[in-house]
Amino acid sequence: MPFQQGSARRRQRTVLLVGIVLLLAALVLAVVLASLLTHGKHEDSPKMLKWKDRGTTKNLQEVVLGRCYNYITERYPELGDKDCLKIWESLKDAFIYKNPCNITAEDYQPLMDLASHHIPCNKSLFWSKTNDLVHRYTKSNQNFLTLEDTLLGYMADKISWCGDPSTPGINYESCPKRSECESNPSSVFWKMASKMFAEAACGVVQVMLNGSIEAGAFRSSSIFGSIEVFNLNPDKVSEVHIWLMRDIGGPQSESCSGHSIQRLKNILEERNFKIICEDNYRPVQLLQCVHNPDHTDCRLCTNSTAVP
Ligand SMILES: *[C@@H]1O[C@H](CO)[C@@H](O)[C@H](O)[C@H]1NC(C)=O
Ligand SMILES: *[C@@H]1O[C@H](CO)[C@@H](O)[C@H](O)[C@H]1NC(C)=O
Ligand SMILES: *[C@@H]1O[C@H](CO)[C@@H](O)[C@H](O)[C@H]1NC(C)=O
Ligand SMILES: *[C@@H]1O[C@H](CO)[C@@H](O)[C@H](O)[C@H]1NC(C)=O
Repeated sequence: MPFQQGSARRRQRTVLLVGIVLLLAALVLAVVLASLLTHGKHEDSPKMLKWKDRGTTKNLQEVVLGRCYNYITERYPELGDKDCLKIWESLKDAFIYKNPCNITAEDYQPLMDLASHHIPCNKSLFWSKTNDLVHRYTKSNQNFLTLEDTLLGYMADKISWCGDPSTPGINYESCPKRSECESNPSSVFWKMASKMFAEAACGVVQVMLNGSIEAGAFRSSSIFGSIEVFNLNPDKVSEVHIWLMRDIGGPQSESCSGHSIQRLKNILEERNFKIICEDNYRPVQLLQCVHNPDHTDCRLCTNSTAVP
């Protein structure tokens, strides 16, 4: 009996020893793996390409998804069949892991197809250098829509994004400026989105330009001047109304008879559109007056501006 007891204890001790050895081996393996993994991660960051513009917006996925759901619930419930998750995936697939100077129209085509929607006639409002005023106006007046009031523009407004060939495939540090390369994710996106927005316009369209810009209100290099003007469809669009807005109390550098407006009129006339230009279109000017109620331009009854 004592002999048997001794052998049982020895067996127990062996089992314990083997267990401890195995545990130690597992621990060593875990430590080695962990150090390898973190080491790999540290090596990736410096490999990211460096650019001059700000990097991808933090929490891009949440921001884009949130805006998409907000748009279809708050702004356009009639777009309820849009699949925001799919829209996000197609935006991500357009640029993730790609060289941010090598983005093509094909990269964005799936996103454009998924997110585009109908725009009612007479509602399209283009703009150049009036970003703040034009969007204050469309917020207060549901009769007009800018590109940033469509689902695509609403999701992408004032955010940035770009990819990188190394993991995690998105560059949060920097993105290329247009001067660094034309085919960057933002430029290609806005070019396509504004082309589509212009192609979709019908009936009477309007454009809000900035009459306080010294170099001229109409610039051929702007998105409006280089893309939108040339993608209006003469078979669908009848008239173009130009609203030339000057800053209240600022210089009226250009009026409807100015040089750059004449250039715009020539382009539009050649494309067979009827044109109406209004200096300081009153409904918009009244919105400017919210911030300048005492200025002479903002008197309720004025004999200088034609009141219809
Ligand atoms: C740019 O993209 C095209 C098509 O996606 C590909 O064939 C080409 O190799 C890419 N060039 C670079 C420099 O990444
Ligand atoms: C668009 O405006 C034109 C001219 O004012 C008008 O004749 C037409 O009925 C309008 N169309 C819609 C859909 O409101
Ligand atoms: C016109 O452009 C100037 C300079 O960019 C800007 O400060 C001003 O707010 C603009 N005016 C309007 C009405 O948008
Ligand atoms: C009309 O405006 C001018 C200046 O633009 C002013 O001198 C004149 O008194 C105004 N007339 C009336 C009736 O308000």
